[in-house]
Parts: sequence; C-alpha cells; structure tokens
Amino acid sequence: MAKILVLYYSTWGHVEKMAYAVADGAKSVAGTEVVVKRVPELMPRDVAEKAYAKLDQEAPIATPEELADYDAIIFGTPTRFGMMAAQMRNFLDQTGGLWAQGKLIGKIGSVFASTATQHGGQESTLLSFHTSLLHHGMVVVGVPYAEPRLGELGAVQGGTPYGATTLSASDGSRQPSEAELGIASFQGAHVATLAAKLFG
Ligand SMILES: Cc1cc2nc3c(=O)[nH]c(=O)nc-3n(C[C@H](O)[C@H](O)[C@H](O)COP(=O)(O)O)c2cc1C
Repeated sequence: MAKILVLYYSTWGHVEKMAYAVADGAKSVAGTEVVVKRVPELMPRDVAEKAYAKLDQEAPIATPEELADYDAIIFGTPTRFGMMAAQMRNFLDQTGGLWAQGKLIGKIGSVFASTATQHGGQESTLLSFHTSLLHHGMVVVGVPYAEPRLGELGAVQGGTPYGATTLSASDGSRQPSEAELGIASFQGAHVATLAAKLFG
C-alpha cells in the first residue's frame, strides 16, 4: 500500500473542507492508505476564540518526524500575505532533522491553498511552498489540465495547475464550491495514482 498523508492548517475551516475532498480523491485510488492530519495551532486559545477560529477540527495533530512514514504528502494552507500560514511554516521549520538525513527524498509532495480574494496570492502561496518541498528532494505534483474545471471562466473560482484552491471572501462567508472541491479531489486522486505506481 502507498501511504498518503493529507496535512493541513486551517483557521476558519475552508482549508479543512478542502483537505477532506483531497483525501476522498486519494482514497478512491486502489492500493493506497490515506490519513488526514493537521499541524498545531500557534495562536493562544483566547486569541483564536476572539478571532472566531474553528476550534472543533477533528483531524489529529501530526508531528514533524512522522512525515518520514509516508510515501506522499499533500499539504494544505491558507494564504497569509501571499504565502503559507505561519503555523505550516513553523511545522516545516521543524523538519531540519529529516532534511539532514534525506528522509523525504523521492517522496511525492503536493500543495493546495485558500485565499480570501481572487487575486490574493493563490499561485504565490503554492509556488513558494514548492520551494520547501524541493529542498527536501520531494517530487512536486500539481493538477494537470486533464481536470477540465481548471479552464472554467464563467464563475469566480479557485483551481490552478499548481494545486487546488478555494476563495473564502474577506469575511469568510464563502465556502469551497462544488467545482473547487472537485478539483481538490482530482488532485488527491492524481497524487494517489502516482504514489500507487511508485510505491504501491
Ligand atoms: C494575517 C492574514 C493574512 C492574510 N493574507 C491574505 C492574502 O495575502 N491574500 C488573501 O487573499 N487572503 C489573505 N488572508 C485571508 C485568508 O487566506 C483566509 O482567511 C483563508 O484562506 C481562509 O481559510 P481557512 O478558513 O482554512 O483558514 C489573510 C488572512 C490573515 C488572517
């Protein structure tokens, strides 16, 4: 079995929702074992409560060391000023030991993201995230245009060849659309298909 980890951070639940769509897609591929986990919150509890953060997320918390146990890791993060969230950055910054031992070399890495606004940095978040994966020697996988919804122009919609995305609106009121969840699921299935071929 190829072991796949969907690892995310989400403050208000948009990336969380995308994570489960990615996992559903990955699970649809035979010969894979899929786990959803999240990285630790860094905001103090009272600050998170005041910010109306979604505090009932059920995914267990991952440890940096356990990344070595998977064949493919699909990372999800909200955008913060055009880049990944500090919670995810902090988690990755604890993988220096794995890097020193080359533990992630040859594994598949893939990223999905969420912004508030249409041009708020989806691609910059995904592409700058890829840098860390490449430093680890991971094989970076995105979303090929075999997913036809990447070409959708009739609606405000996330979804890029670098990874699935959604838009939350500035007040968080918008939820991932069916198309965005579909692209996320496609990404999960695409990574899982490659992981099954390489590691199954
Ligand atoms: C400090 C901060 C910085 C942010 N920077 C951006 C940004 O650069 N572009 C953008 O479109 N949204 C930005 N956002 C909005 C978040 O990306 C949005 O809340 C997130 O995608 C929602 O996902 P979540 O519910 O999983 O946390 C920012 C939010 C915060 C709190």
